[in-house]
Amino acid sequence: MSKIMLVNGPNLNTLGQREPEIYGKTTLQEIEQTIQKLVESAGHQFETIQSNSESELVGWIQDRRGYDFLLINAAAFTHTSVALRDAISFSDVPFIEIHISNVYKRESFRHHSYLSDIAIGVIAGMGAKGYELATFFALDYLNSR
Ligand code: DQA
Repeated sequence: MSKIMLVNGPNLNTLGQREPEIYGKTTLQEIEQTIQKLVESAGHQFETIQSNSESELVGWIQDRRGYDFLLINAAAFTHTSVALRDAISFSDVPFIEIHISNVYKRESFRHHSYLSDIAIGVIAGMGAKGYELATFFALDYLNSR
């Protein structure tokens, strides 16, 4: 049995209400429930956090070394946080970077990511479905280890 973590960064707690023309109508709770079901029905363990605090996310990731796969939408911290990148590097775990929107179609400050070059892959612009696609990849990855 493997352990898969889902991390969501700042403002993603407002999904469903926040700029629905960009982020859609699916709530974070719906996303978390969908991913939990996918992971647990494949026989793996699931844990998730959403936080608006960089410090809390860094601490949470540091405290959980030894898990098997990370799915992360770091939201705005993607574009700003060396600290989050360093915490993920320390945890030494394979991960997928997720964005609901196509960040490359948006403001130029969203084009740079502190995570992409150390991620296995990046999913952007596929809406909330991107979380499911990332999970399918993770399950396949863990199966073929
Ligand atoms: C986001 C894109 C980021 O640029 C933005 O700051 C977010 C959400 C996305 O899922 O599309 O908060 O990560």
